[in-house]
Amino acid sequence: MLDLILRNAALPDGRRGIDIGVRDGRIVAVEPTLKAEAGRSIDARGNLVTPPFVDSHFHLDATLSVGLPRRNRSGTLLEGIQLWGELKPLLTQEAIAKRALDYCDWAIGRGLLAIRSHVDICDPRLLAVDALLQVKKQVAPFIDLQLVAFPQDGVYRSPGAMELLKEALKRGVDVVGGIPHFERTMEEGRASVIALCEIAAAQGLMVDMHCDETDDPMSRHVETLAAETIRLGLQGRVAGSHLTSMHSMDNYYVSKLIPLMAEADLGVIANPFANIVLQGRHDTYPKRRGMTRVPELMAAGLTVAFGHDSVMDPWYGLGSGDMLDVAHMAVHVGQMTGLDAMASCFQAVTANAARLMQLDGYGLAPGCRADMVLLDAADPVEAIRLRAARLKVIRAGEVIAETPAPRTALTAGGSPRQLSYRKEPG
Ligand code: FE2
Repeated sequence: MLDLILRNAALPDGRRGIDIGVRDGRIVAVEPTLKAEAGRSIDARGNLVTPPFVDSHFHLDATLSVGLPRRNRSGTLLEGIQLWGELKPLLTQEAIAKRALDYCDWAIGRGLLAIRSHVDICDPRLLAVDALLQVKKQVAPFIDLQLVAFPQDGVYRSPGAMELLKEALKRGVDVVGGIPHFERTMEEGRASVIALCEIAAAQGLMVDMHCDETDDPMSRHVETLAAETIRLGLQGRVAGSHLTSMHSMDNYYVSKLIPLMAEADLGVIANPFANIVLQGRHDTYPKRRGMTRVPELMAAGLTVAFGHDSVMDPWYGLGSGDMLDVAHMAVHVGQMTGLDAMASCFQAVTANAARLMQLDGYGLAPGCRADMVLLDAADPVEAIRLRAARLKVIRAGEVIAETPAPRTALTAGGSPRQLSYRKEPG
């Protein structure tokens, strides 16, 4: 006797008519025509069932703070950082936790059940660290929250930041962060990458740095990050977030850099919303897009994921926690409109992001955790096209959120009918 069976599901790998059996919070069977009884049965009606969405780059300490203490007038990255600096002294632990928990509710509704959030440690009170450690515990039944110790103002540039970062790790923050391009000089940026990777190696931790988030083709901290990863034996445990300078780099240099990154098994996290609105701001025309070289990095075998980065905060006033929105933007910014390329953008907000975060038991195979999302779409490309409704969000075999399929009642022409915007087969 099983706890739950999802019948007649389509899977992201293209299999159709699949039944998924669940017992004790785990998937126990994935096969056509599963012969078993279950306490609850859900008919997927041929719709797509995916493992949950995963956001590998977010800022939960800043989310939903838009307008506090004022709006970002220029819309630039630097005014965003300045604005966040104005807000920091006014923050309270309770207010940070409240906004983060509100966002986590949105995330659950969107089937986003794993988030890697950076947490700013450049605050002697470490308020955001304590707030998000508390949030992590509170949301654990529903969301896998991984925290990155992020020195927003520079680990060398901001007095005391290195000690604060170490203290944040001591309190339970999971991953070592960094921001080498924001240090005062290229030399200090390079030194910060080396020092932070050494901390991670000594403590057995993962690394995820905001790295080269600039249009400067000479900002090349990603090279140091890859080289340090290899030197310290951290392969598969280090990610570079943003890497937007790669958009502007010399092609010959990149032909040497990408194999080095592949040798380091470096994770790559692009943030298409942030990149398309924040990069190229000093350009007149043509204006660069700024997103890193996603198709080329994927072709070289690197694990590439997409993050939302910001939702309604000093850097980005829009968003609602929808990783299909993120994938949709990436398809366009990266000109990834080929069929396989679109499908790979779905992977970048699900399986690739889970791999980067080293999520345990993620996937749709027997033995995996029974965390799943049933979408109002036939396949990953349709899911991206429609930013499809999450009909059911399932955590450990329990339905934790439901959204009805949106349908338009059309009365034009006198014969009432329903529109789903889904193309009939054939
Ligand atoms: Fe970020």
